[in-house]
Amino acid sequence: MLKKLIIGNWKMQIGLKESEILAKEIAKKIEEKKNQIDWDKIEVVICPSLTAIETVARIFHQQFKIFSKQAKISLKIGAQDCFWEEKGAFTGEVSPRQLQELGCEYVIIGHSERRDSLKEDDQIVNNKVKAVLKTGLTPIICIGETLQERQKGIKDYVIIQQLTKALSGIELKPKQKIVIAYEPVWVIGTGQAVEAEEIGYLNKIIFQQMIDLFPLPIIRNNIRIVYGGSVDPANVKEFLVQDKNKGVLLGGASLKVAQFIKIIEQFN
Ligand code: PGA
Repeated sequence: MLKKLIIGNWKMQIGLKESEILAKEIAKKIEEKKNQIDWDKIEVVICPSLTAIETVARIFHQQFKIFSKQAKISLKIGAQDCFWEEKGAFTGEVSPRQLQELGCEYVIIGHSERRDSLKEDDQIVNNKVKAVLKTGLTPIICIGETLQERQKGIKDYVIIQQLTKALSGIELKPKQKIVIAYEPVWVIGTGQAVEAEEIGYLNKIIFQQMIDLFPLPIIRNNIRIVYGGSVDPANVKEFLVQDKNKGVLLGGASLKVAQFIKIIEQFN
């Protein structure tokens, strides 16, 4: 049974010192609550800025031995992006292998902020997903419609297209996992999430599309669908009860320790 995910995307919101403070605060709170959280059922993934990954990983390792077999809690590190080549003359880029060396197990791919400001298209997303899987990491593939696409009435089409193209040419092996994060672009960072029932509907569309791409046991055992976009402690439960939901991707709420912990507690 796949664990439910709580993914915190710190974006480029905080520097190294603040990341260190936040990681220590999260570690302290998790330590206090560790027996109240059912670690067999949930997995927490923190995605700091690239410059803070190593520091955050070290703090979590010191506190919880996260890289060892004795680690009792499921606390993982993720990156917010990567390049698709393993090595070479690619100035400024970082490969999945290099992220793995820092302790990453997950990589967010195709976040709408990158699709928008860096013009990342579906082909780039597909290249990155393949590279991440090849390295043995888990991609968190972000899909979602813009307000304009929604108003045009092409939301479902956009999502199916993004999904199909992101996963084109990929045959998942039993050990490889993927996460699909449905994030309607127009609610990210607004404090106003979508109606939870809509997520149940979208999850079904995503699931149906998966059936066209992968065998059913692979979908059940290797793929999780999460929701992202203005999730907070007050609305998280509504998303968790939706059909096929396997967790949430948090932006703003992952930077506020009290909110973040309250969200984790609601997964029990
Ligand atoms: P938000 O961000 O929770 O602040 O809306 C979500 C995201 O961008 O992944």
